[in-house]
Amino acid sequence: MSKKSTEHEKFSNFNVVVFGGDGDLAFRKIYPALFHRMLDGQIDEHFNVIAITRKAPDEKAFQEKTRSFLLTQDGKPATDGQWDKFKTKIALIRAEKPEADAFQDLKSFLLGYPDYENIFYFSTPSAAFGPISQTLKSCGLINEKSKVVLEKPLGNSLASSQQINTEITKAFDEHQVYRIDHYLGKETVQNLMVLRFANNLFQRTWDSISIDNIQITVSESLGVEQRADYYDQSGALLDMVQNHLLQLLCLVAMEPPHIIEADEVRNEKLKVLKALRPFTKATVQTDTVKGQYTRGNVQGAEVSSYLEDIGKYNSKTETFVAIKTFIDNFRWKNVPFYLRTGKRMKKRYSEIVINFKEIAHNIFPSKEKLNNNKLIIRLQPEERIELIQMTKVPGPGGYRYKPIALSLDYMDSFKERLPEAYERLLMDVIRGNQTLFMRQDELQAAWTWIETITEGWKQSNQPNVLYEAGTWGPGDLVLEKGTTWITKSWKD
Ligand code: BG6
Repeated sequence: MSKKSTEHEKFSNFNVVVFGGDGDLAFRKIYPALFHRMLDGQIDEHFNVIAITRKAPDEKAFQEKTRSFLLTQDGKPATDGQWDKFKTKIALIRAEKPEADAFQDLKSFLLGYPDYENIFYFSTPSAAFGPISQTLKSCGLINEKSKVVLEKPLGNSLASSQQINTEITKAFDEHQVYRIDHYLGKETVQNLMVLRFANNLFQRTWDSISIDNIQITVSESLGVEQRADYYDQSGALLDMVQNHLLQLLCLVAMEPPHIIEADEVRNEKLKVLKALRPFTKATVQTDTVKGQYTRGNVQGAEVSSYLEDIGKYNSKTETFVAIKTFIDNFRWKNVPFYLRTGKRMKKRYSEIVINFKEIAHNIFPSKEKLNNNKLIIRLQPEERIELIQMTKVPGPGGYRYKPIALSLDYMDSFKERLPEAYERLLMDVIRGNQTLFMRQDELQAAWTWIETITEGWKQSNQPNVLYEAGTWGPGDLVLEKGTTWITKSWKD
């Protein structure tokens, strides 16, 4: 059972069992997150990480690879002492398939720690989630203290996600299920709630009376890396919009819950998802754009096209998507929400921009344009909040003014290493706090809306607009369609 101390929440007596234990996510995110929590003293020596692999593991190679991803707080490789400590916490166990016989080694290991809480982390293709749950159940490895963490994608359609859920809930109750969306663990994303609900300044201005439009952009310079098979079946819409961008949209648009408590927050997010205006065959053509990257130059390096990257020359999968949508409720009537994301863009750059309306009347004699106020919440690469406001240029003579940013840079203000999203989310799982995890009905509402887009694309046979790798996406072509919005906030 996890235990808490008063000044510092510390956790002990748990096993994290990672299915897909030799996968990319485990090496890049899960093990480093636990390592950091160990370095910070939040988890003590009473825990185990059990990496489950399907193939017979090469222990030495596994350890070398794990170590290569572990960095200290100041970004240096883990020291021998730190590694030696963490190494003793990792067990490597083979389970070739989700069948009782193959789970015997895991079972014997877990039985050796009868007082520990078991957290099963499913980082495999989601088709395996049901069979793994069933096998864990039939082996008697699930009890009321167990939890399960599900990595995305949870299926590739509404029907398949429901199917997975039905299978999972035969073994676990909803209160034991943690559907992870790592964007919700990012520090700036969490600050969104504090910014909105702890500052009176924005209370009366967060609506259609004061806001002109909201833009959410997640631009990546990376391509599809080693994940061609997965990505080609998902595309930007399912890989990024269905989860990360919609979750950001929910936090920006939801009503204040009366308390920050898991179901209260999730109830409010669900209302937003349900109020999203569904697309039709006609609106999908005017209000969405899908694109695919061609060869180009990203930050000085020549890169190949998407088709070359995946080695499949007839793929119609989109690597860029832009969507204009509306939330049909009192607060957001007629306020467009623009969602954009793409791979192989010019830079890694993610932000939420709240564009306030222009001032009603310019009283200054020069009549120079008064820019509208913008609240910019930068998620990455740096984590920062800026409020762009008009300011008088100092000096005698008439009024001259220009937009200046009031900015809060997290690193300057807090001077601390910001924990990675997975660190916080894993600690929340141990703590038993589901606030930052998606509930099944949220997922269902997200899929219902997403399917109006996939259906619309199918019916209208919407083509990909090609864009050169290393650019901000298919902006010019979109302009020709008569909608200028797409290039509005892509910046150099
Ligand atoms: C993942 C997507 O969920 O998020 C990836 O599957 C994407 O395709 C990644 O690259 C982006 O995460 P981050 O935290 O680097 O913005």
